[in-house]
Amino acid sequence: MALLNRSQWYDLARDTNWTPSFVSEDDLFPPDVADPFKMSKEAWAEYDEPYKVSYREYVRVQRDKDAGVYAVNTAAARTRFMEECNNRWKSLLKFHFGAVSLAESCSQQSEGRMARFGKAPGMRNMATFGLLDEIRHGQSQLYFAHDNLKHGQTFNWGHKLLGTEEWGSVMARSTLDDVFLGRDAVTTAIMLTFAFETGFTNMQFIGLAADAAEAGDTSFSNLISSIQTDESRHAQIGAPLLKMMVKHGLEKEAQKAVDIGFWRTYRFFTLLTGCTIDYFTPLEKREACFREFMEEWIIHQFERTVLDLGLKLPWYWDYFIEDINMFHHGMQAGMWNFRPTVWFDVPAGVSPRERDWLESKYPGWNDNWGRVWDVITKNINAGKPELSLPMTMPLICNLNNLPIVKNPNGKWDPDGQSLVYKGRRYYFQSHVDKWVFEQYPERYSAHTTVTDRLAMGQIEPTVEGILTYMGLSEVERGKDAENYAWAYAHRAQPTKAAAE
Ligand SMILES: [Fe+2]
Ligand SMILES: [Fe+2]
Repeated sequence: MALLNRSQWYDLARDTNWTPSFVSEDDLFPPDVADPFKMSKEAWAEYDEPYKVSYREYVRVQRDKDAGVYAVNTAAARTRFMEECNNRWKSLLKFHFGAVSLAESCSQQSEGRMARFGKAPGMRNMATFGLLDEIRHGQSQLYFAHDNLKHGQTFNWGHKLLGTEEWGSVMARSTLDDVFLGRDAVTTAIMLTFAFETGFTNMQFIGLAADAAEAGDTSFSNLISSIQTDESRHAQIGAPLLKMMVKHGLEKEAQKAVDIGFWRTYRFFTLLTGCTIDYFTPLEKREACFREFMEEWIIHQFERTVLDLGLKLPWYWDYFIEDINMFHHGMQAGMWNFRPTVWFDVPAGVSPRERDWLESKYPGWNDNWGRVWDVITKNINAGKPELSLPMTMPLICNLNNLPIVKNPNGKWDPDGQSLVYKGRRYYFQSHVDKWVFEQYPERYSAHTTVTDRLAMGQIEPTVEGILTYMGLSEVERGKDAENYAWAYAHRAQPTKAAAE
């Protein structure tokens, strides 16, 4: 008997909607978790997933992908790359595995929610495969982090991070709770699959994979590009929903979800991808700078997709385009300065040649961020590296949980960046973070940043007390990744700007 082609049976086979008779429709799909926008049955019937796959096809392809990832890992072990790579590459890997491994596990829950509460069978089908994808990602990232334990004990932060009160962990949990875990199925699809996965994971998983391949880390490069092939499939869950919402008079609600999801995601990746691409990766192995990756993956592609769906660019787009030249430089300076508060050694990434590169990619870098590094470099060369260590905690944004940083030459606008809600004052990195807070003040207002907790007396107010609170034992605390060699290099070889 001849087999039917997939297109001949797919729609029928995956159409598992029925009319409930024992319970009401709202009991089966409670609007709070399923669809608070209350789109009609007819609207939901229009959901057409752009990526169609059967279970048999899915399993065959995934099996091959997984076999490839582990085979390359075994083969790569013979090249002794990890034994021979420098400390800053290990830092990049520790940073990545800490930030990403359990985030993959969180997205299992998001996919599970969409698989159960999506009201269109096509959406549930895609999310079921998405859930299986995320199980693969969580397991393989944890496996690789664990496999690297012999090259550094804090690779265990791939598993440990989210269970601590380390500041990066608080930031990651707050973003993941907001974007992945604490929303209904429709909003999760927009914020996670459309905002987080469509553009930003491309940058971390393809941009960084290119740098990793260049640096000779074939195992890591292969792992994250294999993961991205799944991401680009299940990232398509959200777009058909946005199309339906625009068509059925919910354009304002759709736009708001995109604007919030995009901004929260952007802040998360600026810290992770921005710093690793522009400061951690060895200079000669960099394929492009963070701004160039952002232009390619976000500005061009995301812009086009949003407009094609009948939506507008987020209202803060002009500010965002300026911000990609600024914010991550502040995060890097802060992360290096606060190096004992992270689980990996932090490369400064500002040797004379690296500063020249930064100036060429971000004209004006020397006049802005370079001034901060000048003071640090001078202190290290004067034999006083202790002056570059933190003595207390910085002011942290009440929305994104990252330290508030500003371009050293820019103006600070405290009124535009703070507000009082129910008698408590909240501070924000920018007016956009403040706007997000204002959309759902009840959702965000009870949360306290690590600095708030210090001020409230919940943490012993000493450097030791803070680091212990963050879960960092003495041997886990980060140091300068190169023993200040980058600073000593300035004695012999000034930057182009200093030479002029
Ligand atoms: Fe994933
Ligand atoms: Fe994903």
